[in-house]
Amino acid sequence: MFSARRQLVNSFRQFSTSAINNYKVTVLGANGGIGQPLSLLLKLNHKVTDLALYDLRGAPGVAADVSHIPTNSTVKGYTPENDGLAQALKGSDVVIIPAGVPRKPGMTRDDLFNTNASIVASLAVAVADNSPNASILIISNPVNSTVPIVSEVLKSKGVYNPKKLFGVTTLDVIRASRFISEVASTDPTKEQVTVVGGHSGITIVPLISKTVHKDVAKDTKDALIHRIQFGGDEVVKAKDGAGSATLSMATAGARMANSVLAGLSGEKDVIEPTFIDNPLYKSEGVEFFSSPVTLGPDGVHEVHGLGTISAEEEELIKTAKETLKKNIQK
Ligand code: NAD
Ligand code: LMR
Repeated sequence: MFSARRQLVNSFRQFSTSAINNYKVTVLGANGGIGQPLSLLLKLNHKVTDLALYDLRGAPGVAADVSHIPTNSTVKGYTPENDGLAQALKGSDVVIIPAGVPRKPGMTRDDLFNTNASIVASLAVAVADNSPNASILIISNPVNSTVPIVSEVLKSKGVYNPKKLFGVTTLDVIRASRFISEVASTDPTKEQVTVVGGHSGITIVPLISKTVHKDVAKDTKDALIHRIQFGGDEVVKAKDGAGSATLSMATAGARMANSVLAGLSGEKDVIEPTFIDNPLYKSEGVEFFSSPVTLGPDGVHEVHGLGTISAEEEELIKTAKETLKKNIQK
């Protein structure tokens, strides 16, 4: 059974110098709002020795900038010129994809589908051709649909490994820690909430019953769940047309990347909730679902069930599954 406390450890692993490993990490969309701070955080991660930054434009500038930071990794920036995408991907262990357009106020993540589906699909073709064994972390929205799209591309190329494809839902996890600490007046760094389902609105299901705050008043709990489900909207509204979450997302993406690297390097008990090709609800037609998984040298090592949850959470999961099924089919 997974322990929420173990997830907490993941937050602190990444800047530790105690276990130095050798991994090439590639960021596709590295010049973007997420891509730039994510590249910075990866440059600070001692597990990363080779950092490849690719974007349609601007990635060499980001690479030159972060390359002056005195950590061990070498950094190189690539654009489509000179076969840049293939070069950025060759030999990569972990590929992180935040390429794509973000929401503006009034839009849902689903409204991004038409633009981002083709961007992500074309990048997935390049990953299949150049780094077919890499672990792939998808940030581009709508995650509930972009992850299944990548799986289809990889299948069509004959290189699909369900253990190495991850939809990044870590932002929901870190938001849940922060928001619950505001309600309970506690230290957010010590709050761990398991968040399952998908990554949009009602498909995001925080399991408050598994925390010490399970007996909080119903209206407080309902408001907390709603805030976690729609936290992305707060940022989109506040940025007022200038995009969506970037800095908190980079923090979340760096944590997930670090956990995947920790698993690859053989560290034990590395657990993160993530949106994967998941056996839990396949019999009901829900092919992908986010639940806590133990990460290991081959990617997903073990998928954990949800265990005992409250009747209210059962209802939330039921509703989430109905929407997820449609998002995945799309
Ligand atoms: P942005 O517009 O600031 O950056 C996107 C970058 O992608 C740009 O630099 C652009 O040049 C690049 N790009 C576009 N097409 C590309 C291609 N074919 N190859 C390489 N690069 C390409 O957007 P952002 O704020 O960084 O957000 C990026 C995506 O992440 C959006 O889809 C957003 O909705 C999503 N997002 C997901 C989460 C999550 O929790 N999973 C959180 C926040 C944002
Ligand atoms: C988020 O949760 O902040 C991201 O998915 C971006 C968005 O569109 O809300």
